[in-house]
Amino acid sequence: MAILEIIKMGDPKLRIKSLPVTDFSAEALRNRVLDMVETMRFYQGVGLAAPQIGLSQQIIVLEVTQNKRYPQAENIELDVLINPKITHSSEQTELGWEGCLSLPGLRGQVVRSSTIGYEAFNLEGELLTKTVSGFHARIIQHEMDHLNGILYSERLNDMTHFGFEESLPAFQSAGDIQSQ
Ligand code: NI
Repeated sequence: MAILEIIKMGDPKLRIKSLPVTDFSAEALRNRVLDMVETMRFYQGVGLAAPQIGLSQQIIVLEVTQNKRYPQAENIELDVLINPKITHSSEQTELGWEGCLSLPGLRGQVVRSSTIGYEAFNLEGELLTKTVSGFHARIIQHEMDHLNGILYSERLNDMTHFGFEESLPAFQSAGDIQSQ
């Protein structure tokens, strides 16, 4: 296992649309996913998409356990999403703070669907279907954007609420808003 370098905003690799994984038996896939999990945990992310390690494949990992970067977020068990597709997005939306390991230190507010349905393969190649809400749904929408070459900075609701964590009064006083 290895902690990988996370590429940052401005790198053209973050703009590439990812391709589906085709070989679920490959040992390389398992190793890549394990590296992504280790990397996400090391940098205290709640999610990581393969393009962030320079790999244009449809792979997402996510996990929330007492995360210092998102202290009020609910716990979410480790999940691996391969070739994910959003099958339903609620019309109801919510505004919430987002950060990204490819934009270190920055935060901004993004409107996302409150609830989404999605399907994705797991590491064993089984297709799973789930419905999730709130912060969980937000993470998946954010990571799905990565697979399509989109960063949250392109979806900002209000540029005056985009900036460095320690300099943003609205983020400092966000309180419960952060838990979305
Ligand atoms: Ni991100």
